[in-house]
Amino acid sequence: MSDPKIVKLVDESSNRSSELPLISGTLGPACIDIGTLYKDTGHFTYDPGYGSTASTKSAITYIDGDQGVLLYRGYPIEQLAEKSSFLEVAYLLLNGELPKPAEFATFEHDITHHTMMHEAQKNFFQGFHHDAHPMAMLAAAVASLSAFYHDDLDVENPADRKMAAIRLIAKMPTIAAACYRYSIGWPMRYPRNNLEYVTRFLHMMFEVPSEPLQMNPVAAKALDLLFILHADHEQNASTSTVRLVGSTGANPYASIAAGITALWGPAHGGANEAVLKQLKEIGTPDNVESAVLRAKDKNDSFRLMGFGHRVYKNFDPRAKIIREMCHKVLAELGVNDPLLEVAMKLEEAALKDDYFVERKLYPNVDFYSGIIYKALGIPTEMFTVMFAIARTAGWIAHWIEQHETPGSRIGRPRQIYTGADVRNYMPGDKR
Ligand code: ACO
Repeated sequence: MSDPKIVKLVDESSNRSSELPLISGTLGPACIDIGTLYKDTGHFTYDPGYGSTASTKSAITYIDGDQGVLLYRGYPIEQLAEKSSFLEVAYLLLNGELPKPAEFATFEHDITHHTMMHEAQKNFFQGFHHDAHPMAMLAAAVASLSAFYHDDLDVENPADRKMAAIRLIAKMPTIAAACYRYSIGWPMRYPRNNLEYVTRFLHMMFEVPSEPLQMNPVAAKALDLLFILHADHEQNASTSTVRLVGSTGANPYASIAAGITALWGPAHGGANEAVLKQLKEIGTPDNVESAVLRAKDKNDSFRLMGFGHRVYKNFDPRAKIIREMCHKVLAELGVNDPLLEVAMKLEEAALKDDYFVERKLYPNVDFYSGIIYKALGIPTEMFTVMFAIARTAGWIAHWIEQHETPGSRIGRPRQIYTGADVRNYMPGDKR
């Protein structure tokens, strides 16, 4: 009987073979370690979109897409959503354990005391056109942190890595609010240390110098929940980008700025903005049916934004949690939004349509988060920025894990070359 921990791959044409060990994690399917495949057989593997490829070992987040399971450091997302806070979750992602009260107090103190932007960094914003997209400003502003904190940073030093994590998590809301306020011509607000993380951010976003901000506590509660749900999602496109950039030894600010740009795309974090735009285009519940027909038409590139997920093929556990919060926020804030009616009709129509059922296309987290952001008065262009604030906790946890993993190598995928065969250069008059 063959060793169950080995997969044997035979290339019958060349009679070369490779014995590939199976690697198991704590949970999830075992992976075939193909590290020696090229040496043994002369072949690469081909997996566009990485649907069957584990790019790394990681102890941070676990997803079972078939069962709709999401765990941060082993804790089910449902429990964290109900009992924890974003800042506690950020600590958990970074450190692997939930903090004891004194540990959390120190972490919160550190975050609170690194929230200010360098005064010189504020000048960067003046260089943008007033209608620049906030994601463009955010990516540039985060990359520019390298210019302020690069020289004294040693990525091999754990204390320096920790400080970078604190700075990024602390400054992200300040930078994000500055992007928004610059775009509407309001003066930037300094962070207020007497407020907790999410409330402080809402004040930096909406407070005007002339009057105090009155805010319904449900707004902070909803935003905190959204931040928890968005804090990490294992090796998604933006996190893999952060890791790929990080694998070159690039500093954490440059690595996270790259993650921000990857997040921006509508197939990833940009989907929450795209959902709202699409709901507005659909306009009324009467138009839902024709939108569903368009989404099913193979000759039309139109897709229902906020539906489908690369990993969750039954349901997105975050979407379940957020759906409830969505209704709560709208009820408590007294928002009667016609777009919600369109959204609910769309959800209902898609869930019973064979095309969506067969392909397991369920509403994802972005479907509902856009509606909550809108109810909180956050403009559509800022939706992906909200996602980026939360995901910074996950990105930097992965960047740190990568640096703590012995033997990490630069990421360097291979390709199947489909271009021209070798040919000789021809002078211009002979082409
Ligand atoms: N509307 C209509 N059809 C869809 C949709 C959709 N939203 N999503 C997938 N399909 C169809 C595809 O056309 C394909 O059909 P086929 O098998 O007949 O060719 C089938 O479902 C499988 O789709 P893929 O594109 O192969 O699925 P993949 O896993 O590569 O893509 C993705 C996942 C990108 C999320 C996709 O579902 C999509 O574009 N959704 C809309 C954008 C969105 O909401 N993105 C947010 C993702 S969540 C996040 O980033 C937090």
